[in-house]
Amino acid sequence: MPTPILPTDEPPLLHHAVEEAVRLLRSGEVVALPTETVYGLAANALDAAAVAKIFEAKERPTFDPLIVHLPHKNQLDTVADVPADIAQVVKQLTERFWPGPLTILLPKKPIVPDLVTAGLPTVAVRVSSNPVFRRIVATLDKPLAAPSANRFGSISPTSANAVLAELDGRIPLIVDGGASLHGLESTIIRIESGSPKPVITIVRPGPLTPDDLKPYGKVQLGSRTVLDEASDAPGQLAKHYAPRTPLRLLTRPADFQPEEGKTYALLSLSGEERDGYVGLHDWEEVMMLSPGSGKLPEAAVRFFHCLRRLDELGVDEIIAEPMFEHGMGIAMMDKLRRASINKPKPVQGHYQQRRG
Ligand code: TXA
Ligand code: MG
Repeated sequence: MPTPILPTDEPPLLHHAVEEAVRLLRSGEVVALPTETVYGLAANALDAAAVAKIFEAKERPTFDPLIVHLPHKNQLDTVADVPADIAQVVKQLTERFWPGPLTILLPKKPIVPDLVTAGLPTVAVRVSSNPVFRRIVATLDKPLAAPSANRFGSISPTSANAVLAELDGRIPLIVDGGASLHGLESTIIRIESGSPKPVITIVRPGPLTPDDLKPYGKVQLGSRTVLDEASDAPGQLAKHYAPRTPLRLLTRPADFQPEEGKTYALLSLSGEERDGYVGLHDWEEVMMLSPGSGKLPEAAVRFFHCLRRLDELGVDEIIAEPMFEHGMGIAMMDKLRRASINKPKPVQGHYQQRRG
């Protein structure tokens, strides 16, 4: 059965979509829903049989835990035990950033099925700000487990059509909330008490940047080895978020050595000649993340969409320009590096060069 997409852009349509989604979720089904980051594949987080259907539809291994989305920020203690020594900073962060793209790892309550957390003692929690998602989760009045609505290992969907391309026929409903606002998955953090400030470790970079979190503690990026060894965010495997077409991330134009007879497409930040990549080759296609301006938040919105389009071309390789590892560039470079076949090391000076 093909999966239907329900629109939400008129009040009666929204009403119908919310009713349908809640009916399915109540009956233990999965539904793809828009969030402000990327589309999620949701199920009642307290119903292990429903959660199992998420893993099945995505073909996701059960060692990779899911994020729990609360109906409201004041319900945090229904799923997590907030340790006393970080209670104050958790309160400050949730007051400031929820609803929004911040996911916090906290000790789980027994009510959360082990399947949701892959047997880990912690649960990843957030509150989505997407108005359609909020109506559905509030009406259901249960926390929703929701990973990104793509097949395991593939890139996250930022539109209803992208969800369809990933999961058509495998799920009963997609609710269309338009293009995702941020376009990148939420920032995931772990918090420890510290003196004089709590320590906030970013285990997955995302829309909230180190600068956003700095007022609340000493911010550090989770070490890549820790991430990849699966102890912090098991889904952060080195090879993740990858298009099917091989992708090569460059650090400078001179690194591009085309092979005779192969076809290439370029993922460019701004599409500007002066960056030195656009004129390097007779590209099959050039996709610009932030045409002309090279603004990182704008690039983030189009990031997965552009990767998806390039993947559909059937070229031999996608060549990606580097981005400044600053703000949302941290998350995009993290994803490009994970997706790339060459895994170049950061060259700080170079990426910082054209800032501002
Ligand atoms: O923006 C988002 O976070 C989207 C939307 C739908 O909310 N969700 C999302 O979920 O990106 P997912 O499953 O694609 O990525 C969640 C990441 C995975 O890398 C997973 O390993 C990690 O969070 N994670 C979940 N629970 C965890 C836990 N208890 N400890 C460590 N990492 C955890
Ligand atoms: Mg995902």
